[in-house]
Amino acid sequence: MAEAVATTNTQEWYYPSEEIVKNAYIPDYDAVYKKAQQDPEAFWAEQAEKLHWFRKWDKVLDSSNAPFYKWFVGGKTNIAYNALDRHVKTAHKNKLALIWEGENGDQHTYSYYRLTQEVNKFANVLKSMGVQKGDRVTIYMGRVPELVIAMLACAKIGAVHSVVYGGFSEQSLADRIEDAQSRVLVTQDGAWLRGQIVELKKIADAAVRRSPVVEHVVVFKRTGHAVEMEPDRDYWWHDLMALPIASTKCEAEVMDAEDPLFILYTSGTTGKPKGILHTHGGYQVYTSTTLQWVFDLKEEDRWWCAADPGWITGHSYIVYAPLILGVTSFMYEGAPTHPYPNRWWKLVEYYGITVMYTAPTAIRGLMRFGAAWPNRHDLSSLRLLGSVGEPINPEAWKWYYEVIGKGRCPIMDTWWQTETGGFMITPLPVTPLKPGSATKPFPGIEVDVVDEDGHPVPPGQDGLLVIKKPWPGMLRTVYGDPERYKNQYWSKFPGMYLAGDSARKDEDGYIWVIGRVDDVIKVSGYRLGTAEVESGLVSHPAVAEAAAIGLPDELKGNIIYAYCLLRQGYEGSPQLEEQLKDHVRHEIGPIAVPAKIEFVKQLPKTRSGKIMRRVLKARALGQPEGDISTLEE
Ligand code: WT7
Repeated sequence: MAEAVATTNTQEWYYPSEEIVKNAYIPDYDAVYKKAQQDPEAFWAEQAEKLHWFRKWDKVLDSSNAPFYKWFVGGKTNIAYNALDRHVKTAHKNKLALIWEGENGDQHTYSYYRLTQEVNKFANVLKSMGVQKGDRVTIYMGRVPELVIAMLACAKIGAVHSVVYGGFSEQSLADRIEDAQSRVLVTQDGAWLRGQIVELKKIADAAVRRSPVVEHVVVFKRTGHAVEMEPDRDYWWHDLMALPIASTKCEAEVMDAEDPLFILYTSGTTGKPKGILHTHGGYQVYTSTTLQWVFDLKEEDRWWCAADPGWITGHSYIVYAPLILGVTSFMYEGAPTHPYPNRWWKLVEYYGITVMYTAPTAIRGLMRFGAAWPNRHDLSSLRLLGSVGEPINPEAWKWYYEVIGKGRCPIMDTWWQTETGGFMITPLPVTPLKPGSATKPFPGIEVDVVDEDGHPVPPGQDGLLVIKKPWPGMLRTVYGDPERYKNQYWSKFPGMYLAGDSARKDEDGYIWVIGRVDDVIKVSGYRLGTAEVESGLVSHPAVAEAAAIGLPDELKGNIIYAYCLLRQGYEGSPQLEEQLKDHVRHEIGPIAVPAKIEFVKQLPKTRSGKIMRRVLKARALGQPEGDISTLEE
């Protein structure tokens, strides 16, 4: 590997230690990449054989109805069987599957055996409420083990879970329940965050008032504060789990490889969120292979993915992949700074975390408090680090590498999306690193950077990031909207998946992801559509029209900047700005609140009436406005 890099500025390179190389699952990236490229179907079949199938597939990939690709056609499996049942048949039943710490210091551990029992019990509870294979169940919870249990219980009986992140508010939750047509909602009284209660049940009640499709609400008791319980609709988790019906026996439903596993809503270019649909077969193969190879997970590891299970990172790398691999996964409920900014480092030391995976925004946030906080703790258990969600700036990369990893732990900067199911562009532990680059595609993945006509651009030039071949972890459709799936991802360049990101490839073939090129903003790693923020604003009686843009921010990556045109009779004022922010917080959630709202008399529009956000952004940044020939102000 070393000779491939001699051509460029070696100061930029970071090499893995001998120890890392010696232990690497995949010691030679180039060889494995080439092998996968020569026969991708054989490559993926080889990975799939490592899992349990009730019936083996007839065909690895069916492209006959592209872009509606099918993987492991004819195969019968169940991801929850691979994550749980398979392990309890062996000595693994006694291994810790999950270690959890609450923000208030509560601790719970689950062996594979116990987790399986709990999942089976909840699966039987769901069945008793009439939930059947294919039915959707919405889960709106904080970071508690019961969220993992609820997800796996759905998978076990073939129900489709739709987890809605606990930071979303009532309208967002209602929209997602409505779109999925979930009859059952699983929530909790409240979640602990920064020493305060997030009133999940109260928000859920408001959402259910807006989406009458919900018949049953299961409420897990976490905070114990008083909440309203609607008779014949709301049930306590612990009451249901104590019923004789909640037996610890539950056979996994035999699922077709292509049967849906979950829907996860993510932001796109319109106000309506996209229900990204993933399936049992391909997703289990893809997530488990990527986690094992990228983070070299072994029996003795304690893996901590600090994301929220409510996002794809949590689905893939807190819940499914670690359990499939039989790894011990750690989960923490609360804020990294509660009660002091050393909380995370204290957890690493106390639990002996060996591999840690988080987002650049969290690293930047903790970096602000200085190195003294992590330096109080023994972080020598760590051997690998990971980053995801947005480009990591070299300054944060180096702090993470030096201060947290003590220069011993390579950083796996993984580029991927809700849609891709798992890591796509990522180093392996043996890959020489350049801070800020996600390096190269995972074996079996072909990516490129192309111009507007779909032609590859030369090294060093910006272009659009595309994926040139289907992969097992890919989304299968947008729930209820196959046309949107086709148009959004596969229509710009036929046969190529359009990621929506701009990127650059350097002379060494390393990929540098720059950012989104569509109307999606990444705020602290959270993905938001400008249209969602705008619809939140215009639902307030004072606002006639609104436009939202993302502006660069040192800490959050981007912040939301909004422009509002008021209805007659309303005057812009600091008070109104606060009211509007509150309104967005209440309707959509705290993550969608603009940092600043500016009141304007007009918005730049095209002659056909479309708001030109590009022009607003250029003005805000004091940059040239570009082509404004269609501008009608
Ligand atoms: C978008 C997808 C994948 C889990 C979390 C985000 C950005 C993600 C990286 C990275 C640069 C990154 C992209 C992508 N992104 N990882 N390592 N380097 N950018 O999932 O919410 O679906 O967002 O996040 O812009 O398109 P998501």
